[in-house]
Amino acid sequence: MCGIVGYVGSKSALDILLEGLTNLEYRGYDSAGIAVNVEGKVELYKAEGKLQNLKNITTAKKEHIEKSTIGIGHIRWATHGAPNTVNAHPHSCNCGRVAVVHNGIIENYKELRVKLEKDGCVFKSQTDTETVAHLVAKKYAQTKDLTEAVRLATKEIEGAYALAVIHQDVKNTIVATRRNAPLLVGIGENEYYVASDVPAIIKYTKNAMYLDDNQIVTLTPSSMKLIDIDGNSISQKIETLPWEPVALSKMGYKHFMLKEIHEQPDVVRNVLSGKLRAIDEKVILNEVTLNRESLKNLNRIQIVACGTSLHAAMVGKYIIEELCDIPVDVEPSSEYIYRKTVGDKNTLVIGVSQSGETADTITAVRQAKSRGSHILIVTNRPDSTMAREADSLVPVNAGIEVSVAATKSYMAQVISFYLLAIYIAEIKDSASKSILEKIKRELIILPQKLEKVLSHKDDVQICARKFANSKDFIFIARGINFPTALEGALKLKEISYINATGYTAGELKHGPIAMLDESMPVLAILMKGKVYDKILSNAEEAKARNARMIALTDSEDVKLDDLFESIIRVPEVDETLSPALAIVPLQLLAYYIAEFLGKDVDQPRNLAKSVTVE
Ligand code: AGP
Repeated sequence: MCGIVGYVGSKSALDILLEGLTNLEYRGYDSAGIAVNVEGKVELYKAEGKLQNLKNITTAKKEHIEKSTIGIGHIRWATHGAPNTVNAHPHSCNCGRVAVVHNGIIENYKELRVKLEKDGCVFKSQTDTETVAHLVAKKYAQTKDLTEAVRLATKEIEGAYALAVIHQDVKNTIVATRRNAPLLVGIGENEYYVASDVPAIIKYTKNAMYLDDNQIVTLTPSSMKLIDIDGNSISQKIETLPWEPVALSKMGYKHFMLKEIHEQPDVVRNVLSGKLRAIDEKVILNEVTLNRESLKNLNRIQIVACGTSLHAAMVGKYIIEELCDIPVDVEPSSEYIYRKTVGDKNTLVIGVSQSGETADTITAVRQAKSRGSHILIVTNRPDSTMAREADSLVPVNAGIEVSVAATKSYMAQVISFYLLAIYIAEIKDSASKSILEKIKRELIILPQKLEKVLSHKDDVQICARKFANSKDFIFIARGINFPTALEGALKLKEISYINATGYTAGELKHGPIAMLDESMPVLAILMKGKVYDKILSNAEEAKARNARMIALTDSEDVKLDDLFESIIRVPEVDETLSPALAIVPLQLLAYYIAEFLGKDVDQPRNLAKSVTVE
């Protein structure tokens, strides 16, 4: 969370910074700011709230600001200090010559602040970041060298950071560094960019260098110098970025979320491509580097993840246990890291993350790694920090996901778990050929079924309008679709702010049923299979308490019409594959409710797409 961007070259920096921040807005939108150097003077422009507020301020002074060919920018998700203009980045020192933007948390900022205040530094904000600005200014006063000043400052700061720094006295120079927060440098012709993430720079260049922890880069229009924290020069590894700028367009959809929901049939095709070629062929998963013997010897699997990725992991647990006979524990990363977890070299630990930058999950996998477990990372960002921790890296290839509410990455993660489970089962010979072939067949035809669901989205829209003014929402399911209920509820909460909860249908009668009355919608995920009749009975129980009943089902049974006020029908699907199909109408339901209520669908309040703080 928080995004930083920087530019140094011969073009005007203003538009590049604002465009970069626009494409990083998914990382936070509590405030935004830029620092530029106009005619030899560092100037800061900041605004509380959405980036548009900053754009309004800079538009009014455009002619002046656009003279600067260097600048740094920031988009904030507040951690330390209220989301107001004073706490907005960039931050500066007493004399105003330094400007710093920061993503992360300076953990020892309190001690540093006390020391700096003793030395005469006057703090204006409540942020941890301002300590860095004062510290760099102090070190610069001693060394008269900005790179050295940043290097010495990073030796004193603890925590996580991606930093970009400019100084009024050091013309046309950005110094940037990172520790446990993402940062890359974009390389143009006689110009350089720095950014927290690819979308900020992909329009301008595909050549980039990812910084590693504790590396410091110094950029001028004509040079890029990379050193380590001890000041030694290090070689630069330039890569070609795999993204296309078009990935950042809404392609005619009103919101990124709607576009990303519609991309799911193709996402499934992408994930399967080259891995599942035919029903009678084995799944190919070369990314798994554990050898056959080690796979056969696995005695447990632990999966760590957060939010939507956690729900994908829960689906993964059902499939792996069903097909591979290996016990699987799924735990939120933020819980896993604060207790003694048991595991050894025969424990496979899977970290699941869209962004690959979620701090809790990174810590969890590092913890498991230090214990000797094999680390398998399922991520949409093979260029991420988490990916670098992987012994086995399984990229999910969903393409860049801009909407804060995850949709297509969930689909890609779930499909990856089917492939992983089949792959292990084929090695262990733990499931019958006919069962595996049935799942493979369903996987191959899943994109067509998803397309069918999407072509009936108007039905979901009608249902959304009917229930949009509900204060609360309950989702019930059993078995493999319990995670679907949780994910459906999470989507609704995130973007419409309606209090929604997913329950296992059997638990309803143990407490939550007390909440039911004529104002409470209960959405039952009623997919054909082992638990269909049981859920139907639970739905009857809810109906008897006057709840407003909605069914999401692949059954054509006309008797359902008496029980349910609204029915969302999807094509018939094998129970094992049903989570991949059933989630789509729930994503659409959340979308249409939020849209109907006029909420900010792609940038819901208080959220950020990648949560890089624990
Ligand atoms: C998804 O809609 C959420 N915004 C959020 O729960 C997210 O899934 C979670 O923060 C984990 O992110 P990750 O997958 O990038 O690790």
